[in-house]
Amino acid sequence: MDVLSQLSAATLVPVVVLQDAADADGLAGALVAGGLPVAEVTFRTAAAPDAIRAMADRGDILVGAGTVLTPEQVDVAVKAGAQYVVSPGTSRAVVERCQEHGVAVLPGAVTATEIQAALELGLRTVKFFPAGTSGGAPAIKALAAPFGDVRFVPTGGVGPANLGDYLALPSVVAVGGSWMVPAATVAAHEFDAITDLTRTAVDLARS
Ligand code: 3PG
Repeated sequence: MDVLSQLSAATLVPVVVLQDAADADGLAGALVAGGLPVAEVTFRTAAAPDAIRAMADRGDILVGAGTVLTPEQVDVAVKAGAQYVVSPGTSRAVVERCQEHGVAVLPGAVTATEIQAALELGLRTVKFFPAGTSGGAPAIKALAAPFGDVRFVPTGGVGPANLGDYLALPSVVAVGGSWMVPAATVAAHEFDAITDLTRTAVDLARS
């Protein structure tokens, strides 16, 4: 299965902000125990490369790099073991570096123009970010009319209350969010709580 198919099978993509790479293994274990062997580790902290490496070394979780803004970060992420790369916007330089590495890339796109830019780079799946403030599910539904073969991963402002609205759309392959991995809970090493939040989210996504 290719990475985008694996993300689609997982349905949910936990967006992780780790302050300390030493927490990566415990967090990955909590996600796996909760039935969601996927993580998007964001380059918002210096811990990201080591955290990605720690998760990738486990071999039981699909680990990607998020908030990747430059080609140099793509290199670092891939070297650390990232299996996919997520970017908040559509950057030609970032996408092309991912393509050089042969690593799956999900650039952010929320307008028709941004989606066309992603299409021109040979992509068919985009991160719809920030979903909540960019029109939410109705906007994706409207964009899916002209862009019938584009698939979306809405992220940003998604949670238990609106998850169903997104997953009801045929063009939505997966949904990203941080609600199952609150930074404070991770920092406090409350991994059982992460597992509970994850299991609840997985059950909700299936229902
Ligand atoms: C992201 O980078 O994808 C978002 O920050 C996640 O958004 P959320 O915290 O609203 O889920």
